[in-house]
Amino acid sequence: MVIFGASGDLTQRKLVPALFYLARERLLPAEFTVIGCSKTPYTHERFRQKMQKALKEFSSLSAGDESLLESFTKGLFYISEDFSSAQAYGKLVEFLEQMDRERGTGGNRLFYLSTPPSFFPVIVQHLGATGLTRPKFPGKSWTRIVIEKPFGRDFESAERLSRTVTSVFEEKQVYRIDHYLGKETVQNLLVFRFSNGVFEPVWNRRYIDHVQITVAEELGVEKRGAYYEEAGLVRDMIQNHVVQLMSLVAMEPPATFDSTAVRDEKAKLMRAIRSMPRDQLDQSAVRGQYAAGWVGGQKVPAYRSEPGVSPASTTETYAALKLYIDNWRWAGVPFYLRSGKRLSKQVSKILIQFQRVPHLLFRGSGADSIEPNVLALRIQPNEGIALTIGAKLPGATMQIRPVKMEFRYAESFGAEPATAYETLLLDCMLGDQTLFNREDAVELAWEFLDPVLTRWKEDGPKGLSFYEAGSWGPAEADSLIEREGRHWRRP
Ligand code: BG6
Repeated sequence: MVIFGASGDLTQRKLVPALFYLARERLLPAEFTVIGCSKTPYTHERFRQKMQKALKEFSSLSAGDESLLESFTKGLFYISEDFSSAQAYGKLVEFLEQMDRERGTGGNRLFYLSTPPSFFPVIVQHLGATGLTRPKFPGKSWTRIVIEKPFGRDFESAERLSRTVTSVFEEKQVYRIDHYLGKETVQNLLVFRFSNGVFEPVWNRRYIDHVQITVAEELGVEKRGAYYEEAGLVRDMIQNHVVQLMSLVAMEPPATFDSTAVRDEKAKLMRAIRSMPRDQLDQSAVRGQYAAGWVGGQKVPAYRSEPGVSPASTTETYAALKLYIDNWRWAGVPFYLRSGKRLSKQVSKILIQFQRVPHLLFRGSGADSIEPNVLALRIQPNEGIALTIGAKLPGATMQIRPVKMEFRYAESFGAEPATAYETLLLDCMLGDQTLFNREDAVELAWEFLDPVLTRWKEDGPKGLSFYEAGSWGPAEADSLIEREGRHWRRP
């Protein structure tokens, strides 16, 4: 596995820990080898030390892991070169050959692009020019590439990047990663929908009033100010993670659970998402930016005071959108999506609110405002599923209270779920693209978000609302849903 951008945060926080877990579960062969590639001048030994330190910091090691830690880190190597220049690739080719000879790696190659996105096309082109994109032993070994998000920054650039990638790789070699799809609870969404007959009949506009998807973080932009200034919340979270959640909630049942069938259904769904007309954007899209405040008992600075951020920045750190899906299942059902940094609580949750009962049987008995049923799919934390139902409060009078029927992962299964990167890296090595994004879905997601991003860019500071760090976002996001007689449910 060749990681471009190996000195970055993702490698030490997610990729190397995920590989270590796979090794611990005996899912990696002993010959497995990682070649970190980056400009930062490390030696093999320095890189190994850094990764050992990272493993101790970012993964859960137990006392018995020491010897595995030693052997695992012996399989880590490092090439310090500028990978935007052609010379570096000669060295990479040689090193890969050497690894095949010395470690018996057998010619399989997994390239992982974890650099800033501007390097993606450059690296892909160089890989193509050096012939590294073709399997070393056709029919006997494989070559694949994993491309981190963001895939492009709008429809046009995503299309351009796709053209570059597919000019040297075949689509079946390309794995566009969205780590939300590797989360256990996100995969369970499909299991929940398609292995329980009881929900499918009510999973449509006749029974569902609306859907809310919240992906909230307490974290700010940390040390990623420069990246975030270019990206903003919609590009960082909505275009990928939140839209993926929405498509899994709303897509039609695929005929089989294979990559083509699942990805066909997702693309079909995305094609049905209504573009937001420019003149109605204010009714369907809200953006905000965090001001100073308190999160988890700590005073935190405003986004504009974060390192790498312009003091006059108009980049959004919060967005709320209302979308419609124009098909038979979902006609007229609003999907409210919101995500933000520096919010009150770290929580990702999907709420399906069912319609109210058609006839209030208990009117006049003080129980005439029965809460509708709500199905909550908790992605993280406290992974689980809860259905809120109305129940009679014990006592002589007729009073109704919402109560919950709950399933909690931790209680039912005890075991820790696999981390998202673990699942996805293994799938990639096994050649299963089901949980990776196909070109068409990525471009379709840009297509309906582009008008929002263009309009916000043109408007600059006009229409940008500020929210206190540690709150639930700007008041305008509440109005977005409340003007339709609904409200955000407290996650
Ligand atoms: C990443 C975003 O894709 O997802 C980050 O770039 C964000 O800004 C992260 O913090 C959230 O992932 P998770 O798994 O912690 O919910």
